[in-house]
Amino acid sequence: MALTHPLNPPELPSHCTLPPGSHCSKHNPHPPNSFQSLISTITDILGPSSGLDSTDIDVNDLKSAMRSYQSHEAEWAEYAHKDLSRNYTRNFVDRGNGNANMLILVWTPGKGSLVHDHANAHCIMKVLKGKLKETLYEMPSVPDTPLTVTRSTVYNSDEVTYISDDIGLHKIENPDPENIAVSLHIYTPPWAEQHGCYCFSEKTGKKTKVQMKNYYSVNGLIESKKPQSC
Ligand SMILES: [Fe+2]
Repeated sequence: MALTHPLNPPELPSHCTLPPGSHCSKHNPHPPNSFQSLISTITDILGPSSGLDSTDIDVNDLKSAMRSYQSHEAEWAEYAHKDLSRNYTRNFVDRGNGNANMLILVWTPGKGSLVHDHANAHCIMKVLKGKLKETLYEMPSVPDTPLTVTRSTVYNSDEVTYISDDIGLHKIENPDPENIAVSLHIYTPPWAEQHGCYCFSEKTGKKTKVQMKNYYSVNGLIESKKPQSC
């Protein structure tokens, strides 16, 4: 049997003309992690940290990048911590040069969020696994009045949706009674983390300020067992 000395790498296939180290399936059967590439692309779109305002951001570029990624669980599984004692977990992935919060949320079967706003920021959500139901509400023009539903949509894996306070309020639920769902969220600018956001009672419209600084895990490591609100 012919052996290859460890200091002598195998010859490159003759039909590949790219230099060694290139991202080509002939050189490297394991392509770069597409999920990490997506995070890098989003960071590039958001640009350098610059006191970003939500009007500076091209949301269509972000939505397009999110749509172009095809979900592969092995690529993001390290962030996706489930905890069936909670409605969902918020898992920190990246800060995008300080311009965003990129989170992976893991939704317990049959559970969901309260109705909430988005702190005057953009929120783009992509389903990575399972299904998620979004119920959309009018932004109440009169405080403390019952909320009005405007739309209800179920998103499947790899679908992308967008919301801001200009569109209204929403709540997100995992409609599957047996299986978890997983989603990637880009919040930009990261106002909710810095200033909190509001949760709303559907019946009364009463709103409650909640802090969003705590995460279930950060960079894949479980952070704390502090209770989460919204
Ligand atoms: Fe939301």
